[in-house]
Amino acid sequence: MTTAKEQYFPGLEGVIAGETAISTISGGLQYRGYGIEELATRSNFDEVAYLLLHGGMPTPAELAGFRKRLSENRVIPDAVVDFIRKLPRNAPAMDVLRTGVSALAHFDPDTDSNEHAADVRKAERLLARIPTLIGVRSRLKRGLEPIPPRADLDFSANLIHMVTGKVPPESHRKAFEVSLILYAEHEYNASTFTARVTASTLAGMYGAITAAIAALKGPLHGGANERAVEVLQSVGKSSNAEKWIRDSLARKDRIMGFGHRIYKVEDPRARILKNFCRELAGKIGGQASDWEGVADIIERVIWDEKKLPPNVDWPAGRLYHMMGLEVELYTPIFVSSRITGWAAHVIEQHDHNRLIRPVARYTGPADLKYVGIDQRQ
Ligand code: CMC
Repeated sequence: MTTAKEQYFPGLEGVIAGETAISTISGGLQYRGYGIEELATRSNFDEVAYLLLHGGMPTPAELAGFRKRLSENRVIPDAVVDFIRKLPRNAPAMDVLRTGVSALAHFDPDTDSNEHAADVRKAERLLARIPTLIGVRSRLKRGLEPIPPRADLDFSANLIHMVTGKVPPESHRKAFEVSLILYAEHEYNASTFTARVTASTLAGMYGAITAAIAALKGPLHGGANERAVEVLQSVGKSSNAEKWIRDSLARKDRIMGFGHRIYKVEDPRARILKNFCRELAGKIGGQASDWEGVADIIERVIWDEKKLPPNVDWPAGRLYHMMGLEVELYTPIFVSSRITGWAAHVIEQHDHNRLIRPVARYTGPADLKYVGIDQRQ
């Protein structure tokens, strides 16, 4: 038996739980060696998705082939659409997405293979189909018929079109695209670790991604982008903001969209996305502009009082709200992007697999005497 060193870090804080060549946070967030600032401002989501899944930047021909495969794979089986149609109207969008991804496994010819090439094919199909699942569910819930995916639109424009039925204006599409790039990958976060643990048992890509979606839903993780907007909705006008946030902090409320396990001074994703958010709010005006003022006051007070920086979910929630997207779509949108990082991690795990099985420090009783049920009071 291997004995573990008696070291315990609650929440695995600071523990190196594995190796990865996909991204690093130390020294600035980089995806496969490329800084996110440059990716967000100069690249596009399709290219970043290729980088994560295939391990390097595509040539023009590789990118064209990748885009073609994505647009050809966007349609989901009728059986899955019918299944979604029959689900209760009030089922949370993230739960339906998790169920939908799990259901897609039954129609994927590669479902039982953990070979590298099969994993990449499954990852590309999932990337192509998750926007369709989101669009189908969102429209059915609103009593509208699903609209087919548009092969002529890129990833981000197609996703918005499948939900709203409209091709987004370029200013919306660009800011949205940046949010997808920033959401795509983030090292050993909770949902990615969940995916890797599941993959390490050789349970397969679909099982790992289904588990990752379940983990992302939580409000301490991806679910925070929906809760961040609830904060702004309850504050309302900028004149209420200072009192609202000071009262919340006095009550020791947890403010969603703030704090991070690793970023203690700044989440670089939040800084980058805030600029795009601000630019769009300036163009839209009205409530969008006022919310930027509210956001500034809340950021200032939380930093002064608690030294907590905003995380990426803080501007992302505002951005999706100003684009007119329903709140319950925000975390599914996160999924539509993070599928790239998750799948890259599943592939990396399968390529160098060893079962992930840590140990626990036992805190319960020991050596109790068994008493028969007839003698227990
Ligand atoms: N609001 C108020 N207090 C906070 C917050 C917050 N958002 N975050 C941390 N704290 C306080 C916490 O109450 C605790 O205080 P005390 O020591 O007095 O009890 C202290 O800071 C440490 O908290 P922790 O939960 O042990 O810290 P952590 O490093 O485990 O927390 C976190 C990381 C993300 C779970 C936490 O900051 C949080 O709950 N934030 C709100 C949820 C959120 O925005 N999540 C998104 C994370 S980033 C992107 C993503 O994954 O989607």
